[in-house]
Amino acid sequence: MVNAVATIISTVASTATVVVIVALIRRCRVVRKKMKKKIVKKVLEEIEKKNREMQASNAVEDVAIEVGPVETFLNQILNEKPMRFSSEQLAACTRNYSSELGSGGYGVVYKGELPNGLLVAAKVLKVSSMNRKVQEAFMAEIGTIGRTYHVHLVRLYGFCFDASTKALVYEFLENGSLEKYLYGGDEGSTTSTRLEWGTLHGIAVGTAKGIRYLHEECQQRIVHYDIKPANILLTADYTPKVADFGLARLGERENTHMSLTGGGRGTPGYAAPELWMAMPASEKCDVYSFGMVLFEILGRRRNYDPCLEGESKEWFPRWVWEKYEQGEIEHVVSCSCDGIVGGADREKAEIMCKVALWCVQFQPSARPTMSSVVRMLEGEMPIVPPVNPFHYLMESGGGSTSSGLWSGTYQSSSRDTAGAELSPVG
Ligand SMILES: Nc1ncnc2c1ncn2[C@@H]1O[C@H](COP(=O)(O)OP(=O)(O)OP(=O)(O)O)[C@@H](O)[C@H]1O
Ligand SMILES: [Mg+2]
Repeated sequence: MVNAVATIISTVASTATVVVIVALIRRCRVVRKKMKKKIVKKVLEEIEKKNREMQASNAVEDVAIEVGPVETFLNQILNEKPMRFSSEQLAACTRNYSSELGSGGYGVVYKGELPNGLLVAAKVLKVSSMNRKVQEAFMAEIGTIGRTYHVHLVRLYGFCFDASTKALVYEFLENGSLEKYLYGGDEGSTTSTRLEWGTLHGIAVGTAKGIRYLHEECQQRIVHYDIKPANILLTADYTPKVADFGLARLGERENTHMSLTGGGRGTPGYAAPELWMAMPASEKCDVYSFGMVLFEILGRRRNYDPCLEGESKEWFPRWVWEKYEQGEIEHVVSCSCDGIVGGADREKAEIMCKVALWCVQFQPSARPTMSSVVRMLEGEMPIVPPVNPFHYLMESGGGSTSSGLWSGTYQSSSRDTAGAELSPVG
């Protein structure tokens, strides 16, 4: 009897267990189905949201313009990133071009703000007629800058290319150009901020790294052709970024840039001799210009200053060479860099001096590559004593040639060589 009861209980218990398990399995299935539904719903919502966002951005990018052959190219570029603005959108984001940041050979630069709060600088190009050269330059700029990212290069966010407005929209750099920190810049843009020597040294190294990237590291090698303090922009914490690479082929520049025989590239005083002597140009043009910038950083002055007569200081680079040759490099350092205090800073200034002298060698092959420049400036590479970069000037007649070099009117002579074989790296 007891056994029979036990058997019944055990049977009931196992039946109940089976029922509970079946119920649990069913419940699990229901929960899983519900969860699946929820997940699918969420994914669908996400996709829909993404689609809506894409449609919105396409609406911005798909503004129709009537510019014919350029259209195809620009549409290709659009897939790579930079955003297309209509002239109305550009006017809105610059508050009707109300805040001017400065102007240069290509046009006026205005401060602006995108709807998401991002600050921009819009360079409105002065292109009266849509000639082929201008179209090509515009494409070159978007094509190169749009796909070139580096911490020491100014980012291109977008462009405007319609019948009434051609403009490039860049990231905004809070501290403007290096120019105004070296010698006050253009009238009205003077600054009372005096940069410390360490900051200036950092700017030199960062700029060199930006140019090195253009020459040696990015997909398509880019020669800037217009390295100068005005094209070195500074972030809020004075990180330098090279601006305006890719603009070299723009034909319609105003007369702030002398018309150079080498094809209208570069700015007098910074442009390498081969650019105004109808000789083949290469990335070594930028090395030369960077050397000229280094002198200006060392001296915190324009290289050519006719007001500074005596001790041949009128043209600073040659004065630096003379001091170096006479074993008085110390004189340059203490005279020019009054912010220098420690021995390490002095050493950096001497290095900068020597690197500048190598960079401005007459022969392009005697100038170092930008990667060597970076390594020398960072003290990672010994520097061979520089040879005279200016003997071609000195041999052909003293003072007047300095201003000739500045204005780009110096004429070549058959004896123009300057120790190519002694180059630190070539
Ligand atoms: N992205 C930017 N952010 C902040 N300020 C800028 C920006 N781009 C340009 N500027 C300001 O506008 C000024 C003019 O720049 P622009 O490039 O037109 O002339 P430039 O550099 O003197 O000559 P170039 O035409 O040879 O480049 C600069 O010196 C700088 O002060
Ligand atoms: Mg510029």
